[in-house]
Amino acid sequence: ELGYDQRTAELARIAGIMHDIGNVINRTDHAQSGAVMAFRLLDKLSMPAEEICSIVSAIGNHDEATAQPLDPISAALIIADKTDVRRSRVRNDDLLTFDIHDRVNYAVEHADLAFSPDKSTLLLDLQIDTKLSSVLEYFEIFLERMLLCKRACTFFDVRFSMLVNGTSVL
Ligand SMILES: [Fe+2]
Repeated sequence: ELGYDQRTAELARIAGIMHDIGNVINRTDHAQSGAVMAFRLLDKLSMPAEEICSIVSAIGNHDEATAQPLDPISAALIIADKTDVRRSRVRNDDLLTFDIHDRVNYAVEHADLAFSPDKSTLLLDLQIDTKLSSVLEYFEIFLERMLLCKRACTFFDVRFSMLVNGTSVL
């Protein structure tokens, strides 16, 4: 939607599909281990070095503890990953054993991410069932991620904005 060429968009999609593969080793430092794993896989597929660099640096820079938007692909991956909150992410079907992450994701009944018509703003519009999770709980988990989205949007010269239950919060 921002006018990047098809291949750049495809590289961002590949980074999106591969970005969490490091979790097969451990959740801790999964961004960095995933980047190393992706390098081996993409190198074996003979992807051009420049494209591999872009994808592995996006994967290695997607975890909020160490994330940096470095190029359009890493910035897009950050925005896609960190705005991905929704009920269907919760695999645990036992509500009694929900942790805060399960509860917050489960409480999100509707999530929509869209540009304003002039593409100056990217709006994350969330509908949260506050009987399941308070808005404060959402931000306990997602504040850092939302600020990272804001930084990644700055890379595109786009304003990041957020509505929760119809109220502007960012
Ligand atoms: Fe991740």
